[in-house]
Amino acid sequence: MTYVSWDNSLSVNNKDIDNQHKKLFELINKLHYSLKDGHGDTVLKPVLIELVEYVKVHFSKEEKYLEEQSYSELEKHKQEHKKYINEIKTFLIKYNGKTPLLARELLLFLGKWAREHIKDEDLKYSSSLNEQRSNTDM
Ligand SMILES: [Fe+2]
Repeated sequence: MTYVSWDNSLSVNNKDIDNQHKKLFELINKLHYSLKDGHGDTVLKPVLIELVEYVKVHFSKEEKYLEEQSYSELEKHKQEHKKYINEIKTFLIKYNGKTPLLARELLLFLGKWAREHIKDEDLKYSSSLNEQRSNTDM
C-alpha cells in the first residue's frame, strides 16, 4: 500500500508544480517502503538524502514561480517552507544513521506535510493566482 497518494484535488493548476509534488509523493513512498522492508542505514540514508534534496529543489522552484506571479503572500509562504526545511534539518542531525526510528518520524512529518501544506497553503496560491488570471482575461 502506498503511504501518500496524489490526486486531482491537490492540483495547483500548474503542470510543473503538480509534477514536482507527484515526484515528492513518490520519494516519500520510497522512504516508506525502505522502512517497511526493514532496511538499514545503507539503504535509508541515500533515500533520505534524495528526498531532502528534492524538497529543497521543489521549494525554490515553487518560490520562483510565485515570485514571477507576484503572489501577494509570497513571504508568508517562504516562511512556511523555511520552517519545513529547518524541521527536516533537525531530524537529520538527530538521525545521523543511528536509528530507523527517526527516519520513521521524518516519514510521518513529511507525509503530514504532503497532505496539509499542499491542501492548506499551495491550493491557496493556486486559487488566488487563477482568480487574478481570470480577472485579467476579462
Ligand atoms: Fe509550498
